[in-house]
Amino acid sequence: MIKNAAVLVVGAGPAGLVLANLLQEAGISTVVLERGSREHVQTRARAGFLGAHSAKVLTEHGLGAGMLHNGQSHGTCAFRYGDSQFELDYSTLGRSEVHTVYPQQNLVTDLIAAYLERGGDLRFGATVTGIGTASATVRYQDSTGTGEVSGRFIAGCDGSNGVTRTALPAGLVTRCGRDHGIAWLAVLAEAPQSMSAVTYAVHRNGFAGHMARSPHVTRYYLQVPANDDPAGWQDDRIWSELALRMRADTFGQLKEGRITERRIVRLRSDVVDPMQHERLFLAGDAASLISPSAAKGANLAILQAEVLARAFTDALVRDDESALNAYSRTCLPRIWRAQEFSHWMINLLHGPSGTGQEADFHRALHRTRLDNLRDCRAQQDLFAEHYVGI
Ligand code: APR
Repeated sequence: MIKNAAVLVVGAGPAGLVLANLLQEAGISTVVLERGSREHVQTRARAGFLGAHSAKVLTEHGLGAGMLHNGQSHGTCAFRYGDSQFELDYSTLGRSEVHTVYPQQNLVTDLIAAYLERGGDLRFGATVTGIGTASATVRYQDSTGTGEVSGRFIAGCDGSNGVTRTALPAGLVTRCGRDHGIAWLAVLAEAPQSMSAVTYAVHRNGFAGHMARSPHVTRYYLQVPANDDPAGWQDDRIWSELALRMRADTFGQLKEGRITERRIVRLRSDVVDPMQHERLFLAGDAASLISPSAAKGANLAILQAEVLARAFTDALVRDDESALNAYSRTCLPRIWRAQEFSHWMINLLHGPSGTGQEADFHRALHRTRLDNLRDCRAQQDLFAEHYVGI
């Protein structure tokens, strides 16, 4: 039996856990229902780049100790294309902000511990199967059977394939989106970073990316055909293709290690509008899925959790629902800005394929776009502002 609470949070990812922590801090009772086990959510390797606003929210609400202690500050990214490479020290561009690199599973682990310390009620292995949007009721299934729990509000933080977004009535809500037709092989290697900066390589064979995760783990990406089978990518093949696309012979060899994860990520984006109906409010991937090209997913999730926590607090503590009513209007312009930048990054990182006049034309445009970023200070400032900001 799960006890009723003021806010029922579905999903224990960054969105649900930040929201639940902020509400507990404000003295509002919450319950979090999570389908997976604690071990599963605490070991699931996902994103790792926290923007300046995310770091601020976590720190201000007493959730940043692990990030501050173990995270690494990153302020440079590099682009390799043709025979050249350039670096952007974005810590000195735009708003002079940096990323904090802290693996998402570590953040989730910290958030779970903080939530339980704040007296939160977190149920693992509880799958939500139905939502009553008018009554703020959630039906769930766990190891003891099925149950129902009620609250004043429901927060749908269960990701893009979750059940809460399906509870929004089709006629009142629009959902637009795009499969970008691009897939990445996402690789985690037990190896230190090969370069000091996040590195994006544009190559005729496709994109390759290098991102720090921790002193002993590095994330790599390789653009692959959308229906490729990760099993076909043995360690040797991955390292030699990464070396080729990263031009390791010119810019330095990669630090190799055992590959612990290889999975295909399709680049997809979508936005639900409005993000709320009756007593149900969506946050994170449940409201808007964003392609990983600019590492915005977790940062958008934290931003929405912050906005929603404030709105729930106004409603429940001060009896003022104006911020809740404005929730979608507050979040959607920022979601769209992140979507726009993410889309711009997709176009920057993936060169045209094929041969012929049209492909050559697009290839020249693509090179010019990278040259502009290398040479034009105004472009660099704009890039930096969108790259770290939200
Ligand atoms: N019932 C209960 N829990 C559910 C259900 C369900 N029916 N469906 C999904 N969940 C849980 C998932 O198991 C998962 O733990 O909801 C959680 C959603 O968490 P995330 O997918 O991490 O989504 P979000 O919190 O919005 O995080 C946003 O971080 O790394 C990025 O790619 C990630 O961009 C995403 C971001």
